[in-house]
Amino acid sequence: MSFTVAIDGPAAAGKGTISRAVAAHFGFAHLDTGLLYRAVGARMLDGLDPVEAARTLDPEALERSDLRAPEVAQAASKVAAIPDVRAALVDFQRAFAMRAGGAVLDGRDIGTVICPEAPAKLFVTASDTVRAERRFRELTDKGVETSLEEVLTEMRERDARDSARAAAPLRPAQDAVILDTSRLSIDDAVAAAIETIRTRQ
Ligand code: C5P
Repeated sequence: MSFTVAIDGPAAAGKGTISRAVAAHFGFAHLDTGLLYRAVGARMLDGLDPVEAARTLDPEALERSDLRAPEVAQAASKVAAIPDVRAALVDFQRAFAMRAGGAVLDGRDIGTVICPEAPAKLFVTASDTVRAERRFRELTDKGVETSLEEVLTEMRERDARDSARAAAPLRPAQDAVILDTSRLSIDDAVAAAIETIRTRQ
């Protein structure tokens, strides 16, 4: 039997960490849908047409080592505003959501567009300064040279683009539970997410 958990929210709110922990807890498969847009963005930076890149995306493209780079994040949010790019990625995401044994998908439009019928939906958020600090630490831990100010500016730019676009803008589904992780430890945020999902099973 399939059971879909939709986890949406802005950049660096904790979606990835929470999604992985939730998937491990329930034994569900996990898809980070941001990687799809990052892979298309990376191929656009390589010189490919983004719609063509989305239509011919293969799973190996999700393994590229440069997908977490800040310039790829910006390219991802640019290609993500193109309706034909989004359309090309729908079937793959829906098939993943329907797999037997349960699935967690995290992104921006999972609860609103990809899986509007998902029984469990979370919208994970946090203040933009908290999110920038988390992303800054993540990047510096990986050896990326940047400043907190630069991270905050890029994140605000990306959130604004994701929220303002006409195609599947970033917003909580009407039936999503809002989880603000600004003042929560990772463990507390994960526990709150698990509790919400458990009550939907
Ligand atoms: O989640 P992540 O930061 O990796 O996503 C990169 C970009 O991909 C986002 O800024 C957004 O523009 C796009 N995205 C999207 N819909 C999703 C997941 C990601 O538009 N479901």
